Amino acid sequence: MAEFVGAVDQGTTSTRFMIFDHDGAEVARHQLEHEQVLPRAGWVEHNPVEIWERTSSVVQTALGKAGLCADDLAGVGITNQRETTVIWDRRTGRPLHNAIVWQDTRTDRIATALDRDGRGDVIRHRAGLPPATYFAGGKIQWILENVPGVREAAERGDALFGTTDTWLLWNLTGGRDGGLHLTDVTNASRTMLMDLETLDWDEELLGFFGVPRAMLPEIRPSSSAEAYGATRASGPFAGEVPITGILGDQQAATVGQVCFAPGEAKNTYGTGNFMLLNTGTEIVRSQAGLITTPAYQLGDEPCVYALEGSIAVTGSAVQWLRDQLGIIAGAADSEHLASQVEDNGGVYFVPAFSGLFAPYWRSDARGAIVGLSRFNTNAHVARATLEAICYQSKDVVDAMEQDSGVRLEVLRVDGGVTANELCMQIQADVLGVPVSRPEVAETTALGAAYAAGLAVGFWKDTDELRANWHESRRWEPTWDDAQRAEGHAGWRKAVDRTLGWVD
Ligand code: G3P
Repeated sequence: MAEFVGAVDQGTTSTRFMIFDHDGAEVARHQLEHEQVLPRAGWVEHNPVEIWERTSSVVQTALGKAGLCADDLAGVGITNQRETTVIWDRRTGRPLHNAIVWQDTRTDRIATALDRDGRGDVIRHRAGLPPATYFAGGKIQWILENVPGVREAAERGDALFGTTDTWLLWNLTGGRDGGLHLTDVTNASRTMLMDLETLDWDEELLGFFGVPRAMLPEIRPSSSAEAYGATRASGPFAGEVPITGILGDQQAATVGQVCFAPGEAKNTYGTGNFMLLNTGTEIVRSQAGLITTPAYQLGDEPCVYALEGSIAVTGSAVQWLRDQLGIIAGAADSEHLASQVEDNGGVYFVPAFSGLFAPYWRSDARGAIVGLSRFNTNAHVARATLEAICYQSKDVVDAMEQDSGVRLEVLRVDGGVTANELCMQIQADVLGVPVSRPEVAETTALGAAYAAGLAVGFWKDTDELRANWHESRRWEPTWDDAQRAEGHAGWRKAVDRTLGWVD
């Protein structure tokens, strides 16, 4: 009997493979970064071949570190950066263009046009999403219109679309030699092409973007014993492991944080921040700027939905301090630099590099650092960057409270930035509620492993998973109400300055 479950986590900046035991404890991992291709302002691409090669090597290395082989794994799950769009030729297995990443804003004209003739409202209602550059539909349209030959190949069924889960699954299950072209509901829902109620592609929505159905993967539940085939012995697993779970990374973190009951929420701090609130089997439509999304679908059970607050730039703003401004040497230095000052010294940084996502959805916004005087230093800018992460999350929490009518009592957090103690303290301060981090901070990979393991009976049910969740750290708020209100008012004023910056 296999004693472990594996998870591929294909993220925006890196890909990792992790192996977990029955207690949800990490047994081994390996992780590799891939190149961020930035051909011009606003464009962000990845090389899908590099992503597949990195995936193969992290799988082999992690299995090697643990001294395990394919037979030791009861199943494997795949989780991934969502929306990032890959189109490839099924006959050659070669991508027909670089992947267009979720952060890429080249489709702003396509997105804006959707709101000029009423299509935007149909998308809002049927797909649960506001028309935005963020989602895959416009990216597919862009490739169909700009890369010669792709439309004809797509109509013939030779050009295939997938988010990176689908690209990896196709390669793991044989590629040109019979690879499976499938995705799960959570990934499919991020295209503006899927109907939230039927959980299938919608002909009218496909027509809005001119997407031929023949290029789309079949949509399956997020966790299923039969849905996704098995890895090929010729691939990186060197054996046949059943692939039994696929979830978009934020939905995977929701499962990893065991948010299985309506009202339970998590906030993941990565390149961006993504907060999901489980709303049960009910589709709740936001009045406050959140999106409606499937959280997971386990086997034959009904789909469970969530309200999501997506924030494009949080951890990547810290990377920007390192790579573009050069005021810190590593991401961890942001904490040290920011802690040299008591407060932000009047400085606010709104990192609207990709416009603003939830709850504003303004593609015409661009970043700004405001409130500067000669007194200010790098330390104030670093502090303002950490505050920006937290204020953006506060805006999303406020929207969730408005939509659900439920006041948050504690915020469950995970992701790389939660290692930054100062940032988490600021988060508790600006929200006025405690912030709680679990022992396993890699909740995204864990959630994919849970989805895969539930499907094959490695874990019995979600109650068993709940027992694996343990708090490791909690931050209590220290600001009084006046301080909190004043800080937030300054933030909102700064946000106003960024709106309407580009046409
Ligand atoms: O929607 C984008 C999100 O899935 C990306 O997550 O962690 O790869 O930045 P991450």
